[in-house]
Amino acid sequence: MRGKFISLEGGEGSGKTTAIQFIRQWLDDHNIPYVMTREPGGTPLAEEIRQLILSPRSERVNDITELLLVFAARAQHLAEKIQPALAHGTWVISDRFLDSSYVYQGKARGGDIVMLDQLSQWVVGDNKPDATLLLDVAVELGQERVVQRQHQDRLDKESLAFHQKVRDGFLERAQADPERVRVVDASQSLDSVKQQIEEQLVKLNNAWTGNS
Ligand SMILES: Nc1ncnc2c1ncn2[C@@H]1O[C@H](COP(=O)(O)OP(=O)(O)OP(=O)(O)O)[C@@H](O)[C@H]1O
Ligand SMILES: [Mg+2]
Repeated sequence: MRGKFISLEGGEGSGKTTAIQFIRQWLDDHNIPYVMTREPGGTPLAEEIRQLILSPRSERVNDITELLLVFAARAQHLAEKIQPALAHGTWVISDRFLDSSYVYQGKARGGDIVMLDQLSQWVVGDNKPDATLLLDVAVELGQERVVQRQHQDRLDKESLAFHQKVRDGFLERAQADPERVRVVDASQSLDSVKQQIEEQLVKLNNAWTGNS
């Protein structure tokens, strides 16, 4: 049977990478084979493209350049890692995926949604996540959580207004597709976030295996 594809989404410091560890534990407990991955990146070439996208640089990065780099990395990631894993019955858990493009390059940068739809159709097609867990947290709290981090990438350095658009953009994606995008209240304690994620995984797995 084909594996399930789950993406983690949310702004900086919302707890995506932390949540991945909770998912890992749940999958181990249920003896489900999986691969963990991330975007941009996930394969050696796609990780090189990630460096190109996120490195702070003096040259202004054209919005369309950024958009195409993200989708170039995604094409590689899908072909070389995600699709082969799913075909083998392995679940794929990705720290960010397509929703981030709509939110960062679309909503926050004001990118053309028609262009995003076309690129999505071309690069991703039907290989959309079966489910997405959206870690939602107020921008200020997310920023507080990452403030200790020494290394700030090009997107971390964007303004508060930019990060607010990111949060709003993700919530709009959830409202538009509530069946796929499950919102997790990431302002809560780590214990609570872990519990919310496990509840969603149980619900999703039951739906996928036909148990009610
Ligand atoms: N619910 C929570 N309560 C308290 N601290 C948290 C919570 N979730 C995450 N943190 C802490 O906040 C920091 C950022 O979390 P994490 O790295 O998981 O976020 P992220 O969404 O992956 O961020 P980025 O987008 O920058 O990769 C970490 O130090 C983590 O331990
Ligand atoms: Mg992270």
